Amino acid sequence: MLKLENACITFHPNTVNERRALDNVNLHLKKGDFVTVIGSNGAGKSTMLNAISGTYIIDSGYVYLDGQDVTMQKSYKRAKHIGRLFQDPLKGTAPNMTIEENLALAYSRGSRRGLSRGIKKSDEQMFREQLSRLGLGLEDRLKSKVGLLSGGQRQALTLLMATIVTPKMLLLDEHTAALDPKTAKQVMDITNEIVKENNITTLMVTHNIKDALHTGNKTLVMSGGKIITVLEGEQRENMTLEKLMKLYSDAAGDSFSDKNLLD
Ligand SMILES: Nc1ncnc2c1ncn2[C@@H]1O[C@H](COP(=O)(O)OP(=O)(O)OP(=O)(O)O)[C@@H](O)[C@H]1O
Ligand SMILES: [Mg+2]
Repeated sequence: MLKLENACITFHPNTVNERRALDNVNLHLKKGDFVTVIGSNGAGKSTMLNAISGTYIIDSGYVYLDGQDVTMQKSYKRAKHIGRLFQDPLKGTAPNMTIEENLALAYSRGSRRGLSRGIKKSDEQMFREQLSRLGLGLEDRLKSKVGLLSGGQRQALTLLMATIVTPKMLLLDEHTAALDPKTAKQVMDITNEIVKENNITTLMVTHNIKDALHTGNKTLVMSGGKIITVLEGEQRENMTLEKLMKLYSDAAGDSFSDKNLLD
């Protein structure tokens, strides 16, 4: 479903601020892979997601999505097939539009159907059903402005919007980091449910090591713009924080500095 081949991005090349944020990254995800990504601040995690979404066009290498070469494709074109969530709950929804209008807009993604014909009764019913599954009581607030929702409610809604038309890829960049622990868990549970049920190929960046090791089927460890280790199978299941620290310092030649490590 996704292939990165020797993907490189250098910011401010040939200046004193030159920074190789992606350094020959190779990554191959099969349909339904749910892969978590960890690494210290500045490791290149967000840059890798930006390279996949087309927010940044890579300097060299290739990006393939579902077998198609999208290396030079603009982000708005890729957005038809890629769902994305950020740390900031304010991104991804339109605050002055109602929940129903936001969902209708998301539902029209990738098709020619716009909002011009209004929202159909059958769509409204489907939105209500989907919202009730989030367990946040949003199904009774279809006509509420999204700006009135809490951060957790907005993140859950954004997740629903990103997946209401099943995307080829879902990119989650610390999407629970700004939420309180209870809400973060709720949104994580919803994420697991939606991803598994629809078999969505997903990359999830997190600073929560427990979430990283216990969510999905693989964990990438990044440092200095490279994927330094891929954990899967038994090695991943038996991974402890101590072993991970050792593995990281051996591979990166540096210690793992992560403030949220023990959350
Ligand atoms: N638009 C940009 N312009 C210049 N440098 C950038 C840009 N985006 C990222 N960088 C640099 O590239 C490197 C990788 O950044 P990136 O945001 O990918 O890290 P990250 O792993 O997501 O870190 P964090 O955990 O803090 O979110 C950093 O050194 C960063 O300063
Ligand atoms: Mg980041």
